[in-house]
Amino acid sequence: MAEVLLGIETSCDETSAAVLVGEPRKPELASLVILSQDIHAVFGGVVPELASRAHLRTLDPVVRRALAEAGLPLTAVDAVAVTCGPGLVGALLVGVSYAKSLAAGLDRPVVGVHHLEGHLFAPTLEDPDLEPPFVALLVSGGHTLLLEVEAWGRYRLLGETRDDAAGEAFDKVGTLLGVGYPGGPAIERLAREGTDRFHFPRPMLHDGYDFSFSGLKTAVLHAVRASVDLERDRADLARSFQDAVFDVLVEKTARAVHETGHPIVVLGGGVACSHALSQHMADGLRGLARVSVARPRLNVDNAAMIARAGWFRFQRGERHGLDLDANPSLPLPGLERDRTPPCPAT
Ligand code: KG4
Ligand code: ZN
Repeated sequence: MAEVLLGIETSCDETSAAVLVGEPRKPELASLVILSQDIHAVFGGVVPELASRAHLRTLDPVVRRALAEAGLPLTAVDAVAVTCGPGLVGALLVGVSYAKSLAAGLDRPVVGVHHLEGHLFAPTLEDPDLEPPFVALLVSGGHTLLLEVEAWGRYRLLGETRDDAAGEAFDKVGTLLGVGYPGGPAIERLAREGTDRFHFPRPMLHDGYDFSFSGLKTAVLHAVRASVDLERDRADLARSFQDAVFDVLVEKTARAVHETGHPIVVLGGGVACSHALSQHMADGLRGLARVSVARPRLNVDNAAMIARAGWFRFQRGERHGLDLDANPSLPLPGLERDRTPPCPAT
């Protein structure tokens, strides 16, 4: 019999609910509602208390709307999956408390989901045959992770950022260029009109799998200060910054593909909304690997990806009790931090 799973995401500034329906190995997305909290744009970044209060006000109508769009009553739900970390603690607490109350009221299980495992599963919603092993690059506002995915639930950390996450660097450079928050989409638009005239350094390009973006942000700051006509330079600055970040992301991913021999790269997280990044990645991996990336709606923070990762955990028999807690620095389940380089492919 088809199962129904309700997913809930409130880790940052998107209030989202989704319904997945189907056979255990073939879940299909029945609905997805995402309510973005525009208020943070006024402050140039997410204000945690405002985010929590907005989730508290809007989560219930968002869930009801997702069920209505799926054409299902609340009583049809077999399990509730919810992001329990990482993220803003107050924002996470709203989703986790709501999910636990709902599950308890319906007498159904609740499954806590790691936000980045959600991003990792997002492409499977449109690419259902996607199976490990593969290399994954997760680039969001809070994280930059390069993983070798040996099996779903078994992840080997190849590299991570030593300072700013890729999306965070986009947001900070967006502020420097005066394009507002979040910086990523605005920088991508501007970059289309510009050229890589500034040729910023490519940090740690040939140095292991770790990333560092904070020096690059400082290089942009100096260029902005030195500019005598920011109006004229803005598009070139955006393009030069974007090219520097993407060159590093693509170079390290290509090296991981080369060294592991895996012919697939999964791209996920908010920065993967960038068409320029998927294009750059596909060009850099031509003849080496295919790139699996979901459409932007499934790469921004959304509950469909949380429902999908929750579905995987639920089918494995995982359930949480009513003591499920929100953990702002939750480690990725199944993550091995062994940094010895993979064996070169033969
Ligand atoms: O995954 P996400 O929605 O939230 C977190 O989990 O952090 O990622 C948000 C990040 C923001 O930093 C935003 O600037 C970036 O994704 N982003 C982009 C683009 N669209 C969103 N970065 C570069 N280019 C884009 N088109
Ligand atoms: Zn995210």
